[in-house]
Amino acid sequence: MATQGRLAGETAIVTAAGQGLGEEISKRFAREGANIAVVDINLAEAQRVTGEITAAGGSAIALACDATKKIDVTAMVDTVLKKWGTVDILVNAAGGFHQFAPITEIAEDAWDRVINVNLKSAFLCAQAVAKTMMEKRKGRIISISSGAGVGPNPYAPSYLPYGAGKAGLIGFSKLLARDIGEYGVTVNTIAPGTTLTPRVRKVRDAASIERIKSQNPMKTLVEPEDTAAAALFLASSDARYITGVNLNVNAGNIIV
Ligand SMILES: NC(=O)c1ccc[n+]([C@@H]2O[C@H](COP(=O)([O-])OP(=O)(O)OC[C@H]3O[C@@H](n4cnc5c(N)ncnc54)[C@H](O)[C@@H]3O)[C@@H](O)[C@H]2O)c1
Repeated sequence: MATQGRLAGETAIVTAAGQGLGEEISKRFAREGANIAVVDINLAEAQRVTGEITAAGGSAIALACDATKKIDVTAMVDTVLKKWGTVDILVNAAGGFHQFAPITEIAEDAWDRVINVNLKSAFLCAQAVAKTMMEKRKGRIISISSGAGVGPNPYAPSYLPYGAGKAGLIGFSKLLARDIGEYGVTVNTIAPGTTLTPRVRKVRDAASIERIKSQNPMKTLVEPEDTAAAALFLASSDARYITGVNLNVNAGNIIV
């Protein structure tokens, strides 16, 4: 267990940690001294991230888990509790979408899949860690929403089930913040702007990326480390009484 850093001695679960924002958050938290459960549906990628964290002197385990399945989530949290005896921080990064389509062309199973990975996954993971956090009167639940959950982006298309799931995630987190605040657990969301992770490179064409960038007030896209820094702040003692907020990390892409 690391003894230095802003998260020294803490244990964090990060879902969708096999690539993209979840990977970046895992590595940042590990550098700050936390034990990391690198959780992903893709075990090989979770193992790659874990290998890189441990090679850099950090503490991590890779766990295969479909965050939309209660049976997987329960087993994953049990494994973390057996290994480290606690869960101090949960980062729900599982989510995303892989296509655009107008309402007339969204199949029922596509709706269910996108809502499940962006919203149900956060409910299942929060539920699975809530008991131990409430008993210890200590915990941080941070979910990665999106600008699409804050409001329509005037410059870029979005995808209805994704925006609905991410808006639901903000609403869920605010309600949960009220429900379990008295147990010392904070619950917040981060809404990153478009970030060039492996998935986004496939979903958005170069013209759309350039348009978002040039129409942002700060004329830039945000980077994965910007979201990781926001997550670190919300996980750290500096944010001990910040709960029920959504933090936009978007270079001014959507200002509300
Ligand atoms: N990249 C962006 O521009 C952006 C912007 C706003 C919000 N977000 C949100 O940030 C989160 C991460 O996005 P990203 O772009 O880094 O994604 P990504 O696609 O690059 O990585 C997602 C990871 O999630 C894993 N995964 C997929 N389904 C899973 C499941 N059911 N259970 C567990 N793991 C699963 C994948 O294997 C992959 O490793 C998502 O919730 C996304 O909606 C991303």
